Amino acid sequence: MYTILKKEILNPTVTKMVIQAPNVAKRAKAGQFIILRVDEQGERIPLTIADADPETGEVSIIYQIVGKTTMALNQKQEGEALQDFVGPLGQPSEIEGERVCVIGGGVGCAIAYPTAKAFHHAGSEVSTIVGFRNQDLVILEDEFKEVSDHYYLMSDDGSVGEKGLVTNKLEELIQNGVQFDKVIAIGPVIMMKFVCEVTKKYNIPTVVSMNPIMIDGTGMCGGCRLKVGDEIKFACVDGPDFDGHLVDFDEAMSRNRAYASFEKHERDEFCN
Ligand code: FES
Repeated sequence: MYTILKKEILNPTVTKMVIQAPNVAKRAKAGQFIILRVDEQGERIPLTIADADPETGEVSIIYQIVGKTTMALNQKQEGEALQDFVGPLGQPSEIEGERVCVIGGGVGCAIAYPTAKAFHHAGSEVSTIVGFRNQDLVILEDEFKEVSDHYYLMSDDGSVGEKGLVTNKLEELIQNGVQFDKVIAIGPVIMMKFVCEVTKKYNIPTVVSMNPIMIDGTGMCGGCRLKVGDEIKFACVDGPDFDGHLVDFDEAMSRNRAYASFEKHERDEFCN
């Protein structure tokens, strides 16, 4: 069993938990994920490792309460334990580049943060652009500032940071002469698609994390299948990171939509 050491509400729908899981903490690298089960009857869900400390054996996960399992997870309190917590899984992110731009959208920032941190520790100059719908949804502001040389906060309604999209800020920086070796985008699929449209124009290599399309993380359900160039890949086994200029985002989005009604049905059952 894996004890919940700390539970912190980051915003009305996003929670951080610190779990005692020494075997995961020892080997975890940026970009990897775990699969957890809340209890014996629970389904398996993949969640990205937001932080890990090999010394203390602590692993942080950040999740959005969107369905039956994340609701059940959110009912757990500090001191209680999770049934399973398996990992680290997936391919680690490639941490190479002198000047990189890490872009996070919404809860995707939970995945963008360990990536920005890994680049920072590797000695890269890190510019971080994060975007949220409004002030109430901002997460990990202090953590990002700590690992970023430049930090830009964007919001859809202008209630915090600058009003606009992450792509507006990215294009503004590029047009002002800032040069990036690499852009890493993590967030809603539609955001990653538009980031890639910008970076294609300026020929900047771009990595996207296709974590949001993963369902069970086992390589078995087929839910995370996606087209990358001429190849078919599975986000949970071959990724989650891929060359963003080769990903077929439209196909990935229609696949995502197909699972939305199923997720809603499960959530409604849990709540009633
Ligand atoms: Fe099920 Fe990848 S998430 S196959």
